[in-house]
Amino acid sequence: MNFREEQARKVAEIEKALARFLPKPRGYQKTVLEAMEYSLMAGGKRLRPMLAWETYRMLGGTGNVIWPFAAALEMIHTYSLVHDDLPAMDDDEYRRGRKTTHVVYGEAMGILAGDALLNYAFETAASAFDMEGEDVRAIGRAMQVLAAKAGVFGMIGGQAVDVESSGKIIDEEKLDFIYRLKTGALIECAMMMGAILAGASGEEVSAVETIATKVGAAFQIQDDILDVTGAAEVLGKPTHSDEKNEKTTYVTYKGLDAARSEVERLSREAVERLRELKPADPFLEELILSLIKREK
Ligand code: IPE
Ligand code: IPE
Ligand code: MG
Ligand code: MG
Ligand code: MG
Repeated sequence: MNFREEQARKVAEIEKALARFLPKPRGYQKTVLEAMEYSLMAGGKRLRPMLAWETYRMLGGTGNVIWPFAAALEMIHTYSLVHDDLPAMDDDEYRRGRKTTHVVYGEAMGILAGDALLNYAFETAASAFDMEGEDVRAIGRAMQVLAAKAGVFGMIGGQAVDVESSGKIIDEEKLDFIYRLKTGALIECAMMMGAILAGASGEEVSAVETIATKVGAAFQIQDDILDVTGAAEVLGKPTHSDEKNEKTTYVTYKGLDAARSEVERLSREAVERLRELKPADPFLEELILSLIKREK
């Protein structure tokens, strides 16, 4: 099986897990449940659950405890996208190849579907406590990381500074801060939860966090590149959203060529660090390197 085939097989398995955890639309709150399903099951690369699962596997995890966490993280990531697309934020009409949730269900339902995904994520992650024979301390630690990386010192903090910086010139330090938080935090979360649940030491978890920070920065710089050079039909979301919202990005700051070399440098560094941590894990390495040339 080549890398692409293996990736597709793993994405399919992640999608199955998501469908299993997500509640079926029913009852008086059927509409909001439909909006949750609409945004969560719209496709997407599933990078964060994949990184969580692969890091878990690489560090010796063999059980099923990773699944509630991988699903929870994708719910939180999806909610961040639903809210990011709202008129009050980036005001975008397409996501994952479909009309955005607020366009289809209205703004109030978009906000509520995002809130509901966030809360359901924690309900899902907490279901790991019911799994026989799993380490409850590790589950508690993973939940702490999930809450912290999604919160005001993680993704939300980054989004807040991003919104506040629209239309303004910001310096490189602030730009790095925004990237590290708005995008880096959930990618760090993915790999750290994988490590914690696999029973990794504190030192290993820190090493994994450092690797993930690099992957996260590379991922957001590539996202900014694609916002300028990508094709909306391939991306499944509009291009030139950053220009419309007057965002300072790595591309506006340093230009496309420098941005491209930075993505490559960061991704290669991440893979080198990964090799120092564990004997070669070809799939995870190739996954990280594939992000350099991604077109969506
Ligand atoms: C988009 O994330 C938002 C960013 C953090 C850049 P993805 O590019 O992972 O979006 P999906 O999940 O594949 O739709
Ligand atoms: C968003 O960054 C990061 C999130 C936490 C959602 P962007 O605003 O650049 O993400 P896209 O380009 O809309 O996916
Ligand atoms: Mg945004
Ligand atoms: Mg956006
Ligand atoms: Mg973007």
